[in-house]
Amino acid sequence: MSRTPILAGNWKMHYTVAESVAFVKELEPAIAGYDAVERVVCPTFVALASVAEALRGSAVKVGAQDVHWEAKGAYTSEIAAGMLVGLADYAIIGHSECRKYLGDTDERVNLKIKAALGAGLKPIFAVGETKDEYEAKHTADVVTRQVTVGLGGVSAEQMASLVIAYEPVWAIGTGLNADSQYANTTIGLIRQTVRGLYGDGVADALRIQYGGSVKPDNMAEYMAQPEIDGALVGGASLKVPDFLALVAAAAQVKG
Ligand code: 13P
Repeated sequence: MSRTPILAGNWKMHYTVAESVAFVKELEPAIAGYDAVERVVCPTFVALASVAEALRGSAVKVGAQDVHWEAKGAYTSEIAAGMLVGLADYAIIGHSECRKYLGDTDERVNLKIKAALGAGLKPIFAVGETKDEYEAKHTADVVTRQVTVGLGGVSAEQMASLVIAYEPVWAIGTGLNADSQYANTTIGLIRQTVRGLYGDGVADALRIQYGGSVKPDNMAEYMAQPEIDGALVGGASLKVPDFLALVAAAAQVKG
């Protein structure tokens, strides 16, 4: 089964609205030819509308970095999934920084995934073990639990629009990228978990990215692994030449 590789840039809390627009205006023509790779930029909420406008008509997609699980209400500072319709195609949900700093639990991540899908957004559902869990060799248990709880109540049809990102927390922003075979093995395990929940069709079609210190010089190594269908990238997605190199590497190996 061939799966279209997906490269998503998670800009986290970087760039003003003007900087974000300037960035995509430079990035878009640079990566426009790589249609074999799905390309997504995930700016801050405040820049979403302007970036979406700048990318109107482009194959480059836009993602939000989170959603709230309720449709509306007294949730100061939060953004409902329905508010992103027309501005974003994707929404990152369950990122370890949201789990660590914003109190996301597996149960809350599940509610957010269902809210995003209900609004027609495609979740990029992030999972991954912490350093302590990694050292205690609990990776398999942790990602299996995160995936199983996170996907509770999600239908097989809805799975067609969902992407999973395996991001070992200890590899994020540290320069300590996971060994590509280790990432491949863990992603294979995630796919097996999905196979147990939904069967072969859904599991074989599901795209699963690796994330954590992905750079132009290690991207091809990840893409060469059979289970890895792309990358969710922080730091290296903040520079146009690096973003381009990541897309080019994905296209060369998997396109
Ligand atoms: P880095 O690529 O900066 O390690 O960040 C990864 C990440 O958290 C993407 O969501």
